Amino acid sequence: MIPVLSVQGLKVSFRTDAGMASVLDDVGLTLERGQVLGVVGESGCGKSTLIRAIMGILPGAARVNAGQIVFEGENLLVFTERELNQQIRGSRIGFIPQDPLLSLNPVFKVGSQLLEIMRDHAPPGTSRADHIQRLVSLLRRLQVPGPDNALERYPHQFSGGQRQRLLIAAALACSPGLVIADEPTTALDVTTQHEILLLLRELVDELDISLLFVTHDLGVVAALCDTVCVIYAGQTVESGPVEAVLRAPSHPYTQALLACHPERSVSFTGIGGTVPSPLRMPTGCRFAPRCGYTEPICAVALPIATRRKSGADVRCVHSG
Ligand SMILES: Nc1ncnc2c1ncn2[C@@H]1O[C@H](COP(=O)(O)OP(=O)(O)OP(=O)(O)O)[C@@H](O)[C@H]1O
Ligand code: SF4
Ligand SMILES: [Mg+2]
Repeated sequence: MIPVLSVQGLKVSFRTDAGMASVLDDVGLTLERGQVLGVVGESGCGKSTLIRAIMGILPGAARVNAGQIVFEGENLLVFTERELNQQIRGSRIGFIPQDPLLSLNPVFKVGSQLLEIMRDHAPPGTSRADHIQRLVSLLRRLQVPGPDNALERYPHQFSGGQRQRLLIAAALACSPGLVIADEPTTALDVTTQHEILLLLRELVDELDISLLFVTHDLGVVAALCDTVCVIYAGQTVESGPVEAVLRAPSHPYTQALLACHPERSVSFTGIGGTVPSPLRMPTGCRFAPRCGYTEPICAVALPIATRRKSGADVRCVHSG
């Protein structure tokens, strides 16, 4: 069976006043049907840029220089903006944003905002009454209080967690094959975050959708995902089944991320150093300035990813 989403060799750069910034340089991932893929990495590693490239919403200063983004067998990079809008975004790919407050307009009722999405992206031949019915049943499933009259209320009449559930309903409304979520629970308290992650996992299984979930939190990856793609400085450094990667991480960056996870480490120190600027990437391994296992070759040659015994693909000169 073909994967729902396959990204291979993706390179994206931004034109800036200080020159070309190489933000993604050989990112790859594969998401199978009915699975949850976690994309994880520190701030500035390129997670949101990757998502924007997949959805075709990169800013004007960005350019895709190489690679493929294949969704349900079709290369999205050849779609025009109009085709993406009419055939892909909102209908076949749903999106759950990070900040529910910024994503709902406070002056319009929730119903008018969610129904507008459905009007633009729902399958032809479906009526407004069908859309209302679909939204109410999703709101009920997402445990939004008072689902029958929720569409008549304004965003401020919901809590942060409830607003995020409204946006999950919006993302699922047109029955997409793929849902992309960019750190959708970061702004929520731990209990609400946990409830929403559980619901998302149940919905993936019930509705047979696939979920690409961006996070900086390996605890979230462990709780929610089937596979994981670890990104560092615009490159995939380790990817594979969650159990293999989290139980026996091979790449020094994955090891360092895990070591500084609060549940794994008594002394939370973080990883020394910072992610390099996309304007000044190291020539060899991009993690070399922060790595405890560096060898002379690491500074000159960029390692390629190889399959390890664990089942993960790892970009590091150590065979592990
Ligand atoms: N419009 C832009 N012009 C120039 N550089 C940009 C632009 N947008 C993002 N970048 C740079 O691209 C890199 C990756 O940014 P991105 O937002 O994709 O990271 P991220 O992994 O999503 O981070 P976070 O976890 O903070 O959301 C950063 O160095 C950022 O400064
Ligand atoms: S290639 Fe070298 S510098 Fe890079 S992660 Fe592996 S050991 Fe560290
Ligand atoms: Mg981001």
